[in-house]
Amino acid sequence: MTATDGSPPPAQPQGRPAAGASAPPFSVAGGEQKSRSFAVRSFGCQMNVYDSERMAESLRAAGHVEAADADADIIVLNSCHIREKAAEKIYSEVGRIRHRAERAGRAKPVIAVAGCVAQAEGGEMARRMPAIDIVVGPQAYHSLPSLVARAGNGAIVETGMPGLAKFAALPPRARRVPPSAFLTVQEGCDKFCAFCVVPYTRGAEASRALPAILDEARALIDGGARELTLLGQNVNAWGHDGRTFADLLHAVADLGIRRLRYTTSHPRDMDKTLIAAHRDLPALMPYLHLPVQSGSDRILKAMNRRHGADFYRAIIDRVRAARPDIALSSDFIVGFPGETDADFEATLKLAAEMGYAQAYSFKYSPRLGTPAADSADQIPEEVKDARLAALQAQLAADQTAFNRASIGRRTTILLEREGKLPGQFIGKSPWLQSVHVRAPGLAIGDLVTVDLVNATQSSLEGQPVQQMAEAW
Ligand code: 5AD
Ligand code: SF4
Repeated sequence: MTATDGSPPPAQPQGRPAAGASAPPFSVAGGEQKSRSFAVRSFGCQMNVYDSERMAESLRAAGHVEAADADADIIVLNSCHIREKAAEKIYSEVGRIRHRAERAGRAKPVIAVAGCVAQAEGGEMARRMPAIDIVVGPQAYHSLPSLVARAGNGAIVETGMPGLAKFAALPPRARRVPPSAFLTVQEGCDKFCAFCVVPYTRGAEASRALPAILDEARALIDGGARELTLLGQNVNAWGHDGRTFADLLHAVADLGIRRLRYTTSHPRDMDKTLIAAHRDLPALMPYLHLPVQSGSDRILKAMNRRHGADFYRAIIDRVRAARPDIALSSDFIVGFPGETDADFEATLKLAAEMGYAQAYSFKYSPRLGTPAADSADQIPEEVKDARLAALQAQLAADQTAFNRASIGRRTTILLEREGKLPGQFIGKSPWLQSVHVRAPGLAIGDLVTVDLVNATQSSLEGQPVQQMAEAW
């Protein structure tokens, strides 16, 4: 999918873990709580979705029950700060929730704002909108149940950044999880790209320890995950106790997971061992999201990406040599301060050479506190619009071409959710394409062999080769 500007890269849809599995209430500082209903809404990237799942699990473990947004006593808005109007989106959502409660004659739900906007704006949010009861940052959400218990006597702000401490404090993973599950292994970023707020909202690079990751991976596999996506703002910078990210991939693959993915990566951290893992690990899916942002060396330098366009080309050559069928994906920013027509042409050229299977492209949006926001060379909005439209048209054509080239392939898809038609499912191919399949008798979580028969820009149609799912 080619994302439009203004919205974060779409997260893969994730079914909520079933509420049925009743774990014993996780003890919460703050003592006994009465059971209330809650809803957690995600506004951001895959890590934001992962965090939402963990927040939901911790509320459930404290005895609360998941409900539809409109019925919930507690609403958590998990915000994203990466591009513009993030805070405004949250404020208007808070206003909507308050009015909806007034119209229905109900008490206003407890409103918690979590995520990167909460981290960046802190107490300012509650001052601007007193309907907000709790502001909790991405490193502090393990305390959500106790914050909820205390809510109602003025705003509570919890934006400490104690590294990865939350992971040890969170309850164990739910006993039933979606077939494709996320697992955060690394957080934060030390790269300081000139446009990006992540180093400020998520803090310095920190890697979780291998045993903790493997424990969580085992719990997810036991809970029904067939595919794990390892997450990090700079996931391939993961390193712990002398082990590299490639070692981590091998260790997780050794647990017997059927499919393994990771996102999101930096070109500077694509080392030899990681590239070799794409050749050596059958579970590692042939898909790589490796953002390049721009094809112009001048702009890459101004962005502080710390590599040029040819460095990126060379990495991709080596990845393709290791795994010839790899599907590539990238992020692009158009209209970075100082970007000329020639710079933008270089971006179009690089993108055309790579033939991306999918890509996300955005207009540059100045983020307060980042170096590029202060540049005097800001690009006019209409120039950004025109460049974005041109790039997206090219990326859409490449995506369609990639999908069409898959027609005739026999492959395995992992069924992730039901489609609109009876007996229809939507699954993912190894190359992360959405594939629609009519396969009555199958179930979400099945791995099904299909022939790919039709393609559009955003999805394919598959015909099951065998009606039976692969035995597990
Ligand atoms: N403006 C536009 N896009 C941005 N991104 C990050 N910061 C900005 C910004 N200030 C994009 C980058 C990054 C993706 C997650 O979001 O392309 O890779
Ligand atoms: Fe942001 Fe750059 Fe770090 Fe990615 S590598 S999170 S774009 S600072």
